[in-house]
Amino acid sequence: MDILPESIYKDQKINEVKAQHPQALQRKKQRQGSIFFTAATMSSESSITKRLDGKVALITGGASGLGECTTKLFVKHGAKVLIADIQDELGHSLCQELGTENVSYVHCDVTCESDVENAVNLVVSKYGKLDIMFNNAGIIGDNEVRVTDTSTENFKRVYDINVLGGFLGAKYAARVMVPAKKGCILFTSSLASKISYGNPHAYKSSKHAVTGLTKSLAVELGEHGIRVNCISPHATATPLFQKTLGLFDKKKGEEMIAVSAVLKGTVLEPEDFANAALYLASDEAKYVSGVNLAIDGGYCLSNQSWKLGFAALSG
Ligand SMILES: NC(=O)c1ccc[n+]([C@@H]2O[C@H](COP(=O)([O-])OP(=O)(O)OC[C@H]3O[C@@H](n4cnc5c(N)ncnc54)[C@H](O)[C@@H]3O)[C@@H](O)[C@H]2O)c1
Repeated sequence: MDILPESIYKDQKINEVKAQHPQALQRKKQRQGSIFFTAATMSSESSITKRLDGKVALITGGASGLGECTTKLFVKHGAKVLIADIQDELGHSLCQELGTENVSYVHCDVTCESDVENAVNLVVSKYGKLDIMFNNAGIIGDNEVRVTDTSTENFKRVYDINVLGGFLGAKYAARVMVPAKKGCILFTSSLASKISYGNPHAYKSSKHAVTGLTKSLAVELGEHGIRVNCISPHATATPLFQKTLGLFDKKKGEEMIAVSAVLKGTVLEPEDFANAALYLASDEAKYVSGVNLAIDGGYCLSNQSWKLGFAALSG
């Protein structure tokens, strides 16, 4: 291996990662299939207003799905981003794809206090500060909806990642943000924190806890100029969604979501979530705190079962 020029060695490494991770391969295909789009995007990128210029963000679960999309958007808008995840190959391959010094990766299991502390210390030592702490990592856990069949071990695991993980992120971020007298803490909650639509109890109640933590922190940390918000997206065809439903055809997944959607003619994409995170992280949201922002096209306002009642009457 030593005799290979560094560039060839790097290419080999990247190819190995892509072979092991279809998501990385998909990224390559998207890049190849959108050369025109990329060129057009790049020229328009140079003229976009960089809404996070000079800001530093730490994004947990930033190697995949909604976190990956947010990482890309934050970097595009001038932020320096440290991705904290447990999928090391994916995290590194995303950094290579973005190809800028403004993004880096650290292995961080959010359930491990020293990992989270280390990630916060690293972002500060690397980029000089921490403006945005995005506690996004999360899992659904076992897709079991009956309480009688829910394993206690699974319940604890979901809480460890979704709730304890977010708490630790906020705790260590606040230690940096309080003396700085400013900062933004974001969480990814879920529509499951607003309505019940057949989610496993562990997931649903953990997202209620995330929303509660958001509000509780917003009140305490407001005194120090720190804003705290969470985002609650409806279903999006990310790896988490695909694995949970065993539905790996993205189009079919989107069709399934669209059937019951309130807002027709469009589908929820990771970019819609990332745009909400961008707004909340930017100074445009300087007086927005304690909010649980639904990105659901109005879904949580409707009760789909009402239609079933009418259908039963007419049937
Ligand atoms: N996709 C959806 O339909 C949907 C809907 C509502 C809410 N959410 C929430 O969005 C967030 C992101 O999910 P996604 O859909 O992008 O899924 P995803 O699986 O693509 O991404 C989740 C990321 O979190 C990371 N992660 C998991 N456990 C971790 C740990 N212990 N430490 C550090 N990182 C860890 C994973 O490695 C992965 O990169 C989650 O909190 C999820 O609950 C997703």
